[in-house]
Order: sequence, then C-alpha cells, then structure tokens
Amino acid sequence: MMELKFELTKNPKRIPTSEELTRTHFGTLFTDHMLIIDYEKSKGWHDARVVPYGPLAFEPASCCFHYGQLIFEGLKAYKTKDGCAVIFRPEQNMIRMNESCERMCIAKIDEREFLEAIAALVKTDSAWIPTGLGTSLYVRPFIVANEAFLGVHPSNSFIFMTILSPVGPYFTSGLSPVRIYVEDKYVRAVRGGTGFVKCAGNYAASLKSQEEADAAGYSQVLWLDGVERKYIEEVGGMNIAFVIDGELVTPELNGSILPGVTRKSVIELVKSWGKPMIERKISIQELAGLHKAGRVSEAMAIGTAAVICPVGELKWGGDVMIFNNGKIGPVAQRLYDEITAIQTCDAPDKFGWVYEVK
Ligand code: COI
Repeated sequence: MMELKFELTKNPKRIPTSEELTRTHFGTLFTDHMLIIDYEKSKGWHDARVVPYGPLAFEPASCCFHYGQLIFEGLKAYKTKDGCAVIFRPEQNMIRMNESCERMCIAKIDEREFLEAIAALVKTDSAWIPTGLGTSLYVRPFIVANEAFLGVHPSNSFIFMTILSPVGPYFTSGLSPVRIYVEDKYVRAVRGGTGFVKCAGNYAASLKSQEEADAAGYSQVLWLDGVERKYIEEVGGMNIAFVIDGELVTPELNGSILPGVTRKSVIELVKSWGKPMIERKISIQELAGLHKAGRVSEAMAIGTAAVICPVGELKWGGDVMIFNNGKIGPVAQRLYDEITAIQTCDAPDKFGWVYEVK
C-alpha cells in the first residue's frame, strides 16, 4: 500500500446542490481537494498526497506544453441511499490508463495502489457527491509529463493527478435526444495512431470539428474512419450504438475507436437480456439505407460522462435521419435506467461493477 499524506483545506467551499448542478455546465465546479503523485525515473512513483485543490507550478519548458504527452481517464462516483460512496468499474479505467501509458511512453501505474489513492480522495470529499437524479461526482485522473526540455523524446518525470467535479448530465438537454452530424471533412484518428487510448491530443484534434458543429446547431459530430471515411467510429467523446431490426449494433473496436467502459458495460448488460449487442463494421451508407427502409429505430451515444444519451437526429450531407420521432426510445431508456440503478446501488450489483469507497 502506497503511503498517502493528507493536507486538508482550511477554506472549504460551498457544496452545490443537485438542482444547481442540473443548471451548470459539465465539469466546471471542483471539490476542495486533489490527489498528486510524482514520478521520477530514479524514484518511481512517490510522494502521494491529498492537498487542497488549487493551481500548480510548472516550468514553461515542461514537455507536456510542447509535445502533448498527456493522458486522462473519466469515472463516476455515486452515493447510495444508505450513504455509502461507490465508484463505477474503476478497475477498468485503471487498466485503460495503463494502456494509454504504454502507447504514450508514460511510466505505468500500479493499478490497485492508484485506485486506492483515488478512493481516498473521493472519501475525503465524499460530502460533494450529489444524490439528485442524473448527478454524480465525476472523477478525472490524469498524467502530465513535466520534464523541462525542448527535444522531442519521452519525459523522465510525470505528475499523476486526480480532480473531482460534481456534475449533472453531460448535455444540458439531459435525457432529451441530441442532434449530431456526420463529420466528412476532419478525421479523429487512424489505425496505428492514438485513437484507442485516452490522450489529450485526440480531444484537441476534435475541437475544430466540434466548434463547427456547435455553430451549425449540433451537439456533437459522428466520426467516420480516417482511411476510407466510410465506417462509423464514435461520437465526439462517446461510443455510439443503433437499434437495427430490434438488435443493438455498435461499431467493432478497430484500433482507432476508444474502448469505452460504459460501452463494455452495455455489451455485458445486453447479453444478460438474452440478445447480444452486435459489434461489427457499419458504414454510414449502410445505416442511411437501413434508416430509409425503416429498420433503424434508435440511436444512442454511450460514455461515462454521457451515460446513455439518445440521438434524435443524424445529419449526413443532405440526408437527415430522425430516430424514434426525435424522442428517447425504449432500448435507450431501459439501458439508462438499468445502468444508473446499478451505479447508485438501487439495483443489485449482479455483475460486480460497484467499488465501495471505505
Ligand atoms: C468521459 O466520458 O469520461 C470522457 O472522458 C469524455 C469527455 C467528453 C468528457
């Protein structure tokens, strides 16, 4: 077990109510504390500490500022009816963080020890976990390369941090279906690149497209594969699934799609319903054809931040696909209800997905 030091704040902030969170933009409020763990090649990961949330000092030559050696994760913590703090499938995020470390030449972490340190941070600020419908405490661990140099090579020092943000729904529209357009100008990732890991650069590369989507009145874009620009990959920061002929279908993982923890959970949940979620290649052309034939009844974005978010409209050039008359459909609603019930322990944890913060 890693030794963890605590320096608690002398100036606690006012904790927002759940009602306030539903009116606040996602990820704009932060709790009183953060977790920091340092890495140097000669010492390994060391000096783990929970300290007051606040600004950090970095040398301007820190290589993260120049070459973007930066990865992150996203998890959610909830409070159960009997007052326990729980985190949803954090072991999965720790595994994926190490996959990101591997791809981005960042020192690997001890998954169990780092998870225990994150849990200790969540426990410290557990009063901040909101309990209102659709609210949670979003947990954002990240690793930054902070060695000061301008040559292009991997850093020898890193900082692991975790910050906590009480949140409402990712989209201010809540569970109302969002409008998305199919991106045909920019690409997010290609096979052999970094699309399958959670590195900051993937999100930086998506901003231009997101900006254009916003200006056109859309919430997100749907990315196509970067080679043929034909196959559906994922939405902005989430995975995507469709209900086709009554079956849930999602693009198969191909090296450029992020393997989402919620995506994985949906696959396991749907399997327990007796009808597997189909993972396969699906081209935008095929989807449009199926939609025209009335065979696509629902579309939904799937992610930690978004949970399950119905897609009401998908625009592909001149083609506008409306799903379930622009309303949330029965499959998205059932997935949302069952996943959130497990996350908050309102339903039995039959898959062993809930991690209790002790
Ligand atoms: C998450 O769902 O946790 C993400 O990191 C996606 C981001 C759009 C908030």
